Amino acid sequence: MASLTFAAVTKSFGPVRAVDGLDLSIRDGEFFVILGPSGAGKTTSLRLLAGLETPDHGKIFMDGRDVTGLHPAARDVAFVFQQYSLYPHLSVRDNIAFPLRAPGRRLPETEIAVKVAEVAALLHIESKLDSKATTLSGGEMQRVAIGRALVRQPQLFLMDEPLSSLDAKLREELRVELKRLQRRLGTTLVYVTHDQVEALTLADRIAVMEAGRIGQIGTPEHIYDRPETLAVARRLGSPPMNILTPAVLGPDSSHVPAATAHVAIRPEDVRVSVDALTPAGQVFRAIEHSLVTRILVAEQGDLEVRALVRADQPILPGQDIGITFPLAHCQFFDRSGNRISA
Ligand SMILES: Nc1ncnc2c1ncn2[C@@H]1O[C@H](COP(=O)(O)OP(=O)(O)OP(=O)(O)O)[C@@H](O)[C@H]1O
Ligand SMILES: [Mg+2]
Repeated sequence: MASLTFAAVTKSFGPVRAVDGLDLSIRDGEFFVILGPSGAGKTTSLRLLAGLETPDHGKIFMDGRDVTGLHPAARDVAFVFQQYSLYPHLSVRDNIAFPLRAPGRRLPETEIAVKVAEVAALLHIESKLDSKATTLSGGEMQRVAIGRALVRQPQLFLMDEPLSSLDAKLREELRVELKRLQRRLGTTLVYVTHDQVEALTLADRIAVMEAGRIGQIGTPEHIYDRPETLAVARRLGSPPMNILTPAVLGPDSSHVPAATAHVAIRPEDVRVSVDALTPAGQVFRAIEHSLVTRILVAEQGDLEVRALVRADQPILPGQDIGITFPLAHCQFFDRSGNRISA
């Protein structure tokens, strides 16, 4: 197990600053998720931790020890890559067992067989153990790659979108298993994803990354409830947060902080009413209402709003409804997209 620190780490590829002055501390035993869009610098950050890239500037510490120049093999890290890298000529069994047969380790074969069977069951690939890696589907290969990391007991797990090519059901199942396993092993795990659901359900803490920089670090609850920037606010939540202008608050708009340029409110906090007594300014036209997801999309001129409504609230597309934005649930951001603290 290990704690990790990035101290002012920068890594460029030609003109592209993939990681830009990254300062980040990850605690021993933490399930730490880096969440961000494509090109944010997530994989580069993991590769820097693994020693597969060297920073241009700054330092990386593991357990307080400077590992910036240390060879990957000396870091005791198990990595699940975004592009699964199996040994094609080996069977699934031998791919998973591979790290246990490494020269420095050499476990007895009986012990290896037990460990391989354990992770194969966990990942539902028991029936594939004797297949060649090249005959597997993408999702199966990904599970073998995860299995190969799990059989070891490293100081640190690094996982780069390990569930991305699995179907929704398996993804959810493995998400739960992964969380359970990490709890049990207590090994520090840094997990990269662009999927906010994974981030919110798996993480002890999340770092939201964009363009090589961290927008915010915190627990899922904290980041969801108090995003520091509009960019972070937009990244978390499904359906996404409504980002509106103060004018939609009607008479309440006189109560917003002076510098407010944007008012943000979660769909679950929007109030929807179907009575006929709604003041004109709050009347919206329902566009779409899904019974399954309970998401209502409504418009008023150019304005589009998403709200979560009760399943028993009968709303038809085209119907006029009343929508209000309770001030207590509104969050305020200035012209540059920074949170205005109340
Ligand atoms: N080896 C490389 N050579 C040149 N540019 C690179 C290299 N690796 C990464 N980059 C660039 O650095 C930036 C960050 O890349 P990175 O792979 O870290 O993003 P990411 O957040 O993992 O994205 P994705 O979600 O698409 O995997 C991108 O603009 C990418 O094109
Ligand atoms: Mg990547």
